[in-house]
Amino acid sequence: VLDLSTSFAGVRLRNPIVVAAAGITGTIDRLKRAEDAGAGAVSMKSLFENPIPRVGDPTPHMLVIRRRLGSLSSETLYSYEQCSAFDEERYAEELHRAKQALSIPVFANVDCQTPEAWVRYCRLMEEAGADGVEVKSCPHGEHLLTGTELQEVVRLLKGTVNIPVIPKLPPQLTSPYQTARELERVGADALVLFNRFTGLDIDVHTESPVMHGGVAGHGGPWSLHYVLRWVVQTAPALSIPVCASGGVGGGEDVIKCLLAGASAVQIATLVILEGYGVIGRVLKEASEWMEARGYHRLEQFRGRAAARVLNLAEICRERRLVASISAERCSGCGRCGEICIYRAVTEEAGGRFRVGEGCVGCGLCVHVCPETAIGMVPAR
Ligand SMILES: Cc1cc2nc3c(=O)[nH]c(=O)nc-3n(C[C@H](O)[C@H](O)[C@H](O)COP(=O)(O)O)c2cc1C
Repeated sequence: VLDLSTSFAGVRLRNPIVVAAAGITGTIDRLKRAEDAGAGAVSMKSLFENPIPRVGDPTPHMLVIRRRLGSLSSETLYSYEQCSAFDEERYAEELHRAKQALSIPVFANVDCQTPEAWVRYCRLMEEAGADGVEVKSCPHGEHLLTGTELQEVVRLLKGTVNIPVIPKLPPQLTSPYQTARELERVGADALVLFNRFTGLDIDVHTESPVMHGGVAGHGGPWSLHYVLRWVVQTAPALSIPVCASGGVGGGEDVIKCLLAGASAVQIATLVILEGYGVIGRVLKEASEWMEARGYHRLEQFRGRAAARVLNLAEICRERRLVASISAERCSGCGRCGEICIYRAVTEEAGGRFRVGEGCVGCGLCVHVCPETAIGMVPAR
């Protein structure tokens, strides 16, 4: 029988899926829907000290942006959803009621500007029964907390509250690894890597920012790679657990985060786009992967890929593979020749193309060939 349970910030979760702080976790009703759909834990929509965003969300505040870049395309959920409309007392009350109604852990998520508010708000969260408090750095503000500022907040809170203090790192840091190490040193109980990137899109007709007229949070399937890259480096180096957050699109992505060394995985965008029911699918996909490999517990494979990440000196630089074009499948379009900076592709009599000696085995032509006529073969 499969056991998906995990430990995060000293709390036991029935499975590693944490529904991340967003509108989908803004009220007790939505938190309950996340629990009923199978989530292992929930993180409540952020409570802000700053009163400006408490007023409400601009309309609209969500946009799906599709872009093309050559043969590549990317999609982004571009959003400017504000913080919880609740003040600190009302937020604590909602949290307290959520704790009574739900059986899974409920994390608070707080973002303040002054030490006094950090202390007061987090004490309120503790009294309300929060299983931990995420220390958030808003990606929308003009000022993103630096690693040093995050450390100061964690140090302050560790001297103030007894519930787990969980910094949620902004992705814009000089060295997330260094910041993670320092946050552990000042007493962080766990880390979330990461909040969203902040970005901008411009309408070339109006020559102005799109949607609400400012910068926005953005993320999509592509964000996962950034998250994995830093989870792989930080999780094995720390003794506190790391929760991956960003770009998780299904069970396989959850497995990737666990293989990278994460103890839990936050999901927001997927639930926003598909509804709470998607959590069941994610869990099913992750379970099927484990079953197919004969794993019964997460600890049997957690961090396995992290141990296999090669360093600069270990990576093989031999020319082991080169491209080869199938004469039968080549339509003679010449796309491979156009993009080959090594001039390794030559045209044969009859309009077909062939890979010559100059091929360094970069592998790019395999992906641009519209006929899937190119493969990699051992270099002679
Ligand atoms: C619409 C929206 C609102 C969000 N609001 C918050 C928030 O209030 N507090 C917070 O810490 N993170 C917030 N986030 C970030 C998510 O909690 C999560 O860390 C991030 O979106 C990455 O995960 P994802 O790619 O699964 O969405 C929000 C994300 C979205 C998309």
